[in-house]
Amino acid sequence: MIKPHGTDTLNPLYVQNENQRNELLKEAESLPSLVVSSAAAANAVMLGSGYFNPLKGYMNRADSLRVAENMRTTDGLFWPVPIVNVVNNADGIKGAKRIALRDPNVDGNPVLAIQTVETIEEFTNDDMKWMTEKIFRTTDPNHPGVAAFNSVGNVVISGPIQVLNFSYFGKEFPETFRTACQIREEMKKLGWEKVVAFQTRNPMHLAHEELCRMAHKAVNADGILIHMLLGRLKKGDIPADVRDACIRKMVELYFPPNTVLVTGYGFDMLYAGPREAVLHAVFRQNAGCTHLIVGRDHAGVGDYYGPFDAQAIFREEVPPGALQINIFEADHTAWSRKLGRVVMMRDVPDHTKEDFILLSGTKVREMLSRGEAPPPEFSRPEVAQILMQYYRSTQEQ
Ligand code: ADX
Repeated sequence: MIKPHGTDTLNPLYVQNENQRNELLKEAESLPSLVVSSAAAANAVMLGSGYFNPLKGYMNRADSLRVAENMRTTDGLFWPVPIVNVVNNADGIKGAKRIALRDPNVDGNPVLAIQTVETIEEFTNDDMKWMTEKIFRTTDPNHPGVAAFNSVGNVVISGPIQVLNFSYFGKEFPETFRTACQIREEMKKLGWEKVVAFQTRNPMHLAHEELCRMAHKAVNADGILIHMLLGRLKKGDIPADVRDACIRKMVELYFPPNTVLVTGYGFDMLYAGPREAVLHAVFRQNAGCTHLIVGRDHAGVGDYYGPFDAQAIFREEVPPGALQINIFEADHTAWSRKLGRVVMMRDVPDHTKEDFILLSGTKVREMLSRGEAPPPEFSRPEVAQILMQYYRSTQEQ
């Protein structure tokens, strides 16, 4: 199986041993504690799950700046996005060697992890602006990722962590939330070596489904890992449980058994387009995948990024050999009136504009909110039904 990023074996930061975990939970009661940001909590879940191998915890200021600048830590590790624990105010933990990190997304703010504090530093306004520009390619506060990144404060607490649970993800999505280690184990059991990962934050529509099929065939893969984001999204995006139900229905009805694993990971969407695509590649490699599908406007939002910027970054900015995982570059997919199926535009050079039906997610959301079913060129009827039900329930509230 493909090696993890940076090391020969995966080193998840979740404390496996139950006795040790209980000891640490006991220790946490006597430690100064912080309710961390949702982003820092999501980072802890990803570190705990092995997805952020080989990181040992949160980055300091120098590493964050270097990573934002050229995707390398000061030690030379390739890494695309700063992984930080940033707060407004760290007065409550001053002088502490170890601190308990409390979960902002679970009632009662239980302890999520223990951090050994290495440094407490401040990002200047210039640091923040510069990192924002580098990571998101914009500083527009209307960009949801920019807004989230700049809303948590500027005090950066670095140091290794020991993760004690997986926040709400394990409980809310028992069938779907998986760590990188669990995914590797499941793939090993299935005998999969060559695996195509599909990143998504949507209920998969026909274009998504066909993309998976096309990539699977093109790279002659043993299987497809559908890996959905289970964390926070911007307003208007469809909640994870609804997406999960849609995807499961689609896989059950339209894929042969044992060719697809439906899984999810506990992270908030950054909407950082190209940089997030590179992060996606890192953590799919950690989950044992040999290929990642990157299509149109991958991890994008609005029109902040060019449609294929998230592919270009792998050619232009990721140094050869920095990652082992391969990128399956997907062209724009659309429904062909001529052929009566979804195609990648580059595969049908004889088509003219009129031969395609292009339906945007926004248009379909508008249809759904009017109680209209998305057309068969866009969604499977069984998926459309789940979405209609969801939209009806939101309108009854
Ligand atoms: S994402 O934010 O998670 O990337 P989404 O779930 O919509 O959003 O997309 C999942 C993957 O499918 C991404 O790689 C994206 O580029 C690709 N994709 C979605 N729609 C299309 C399309 N019409 N043509 C080509 N690729 C697409």
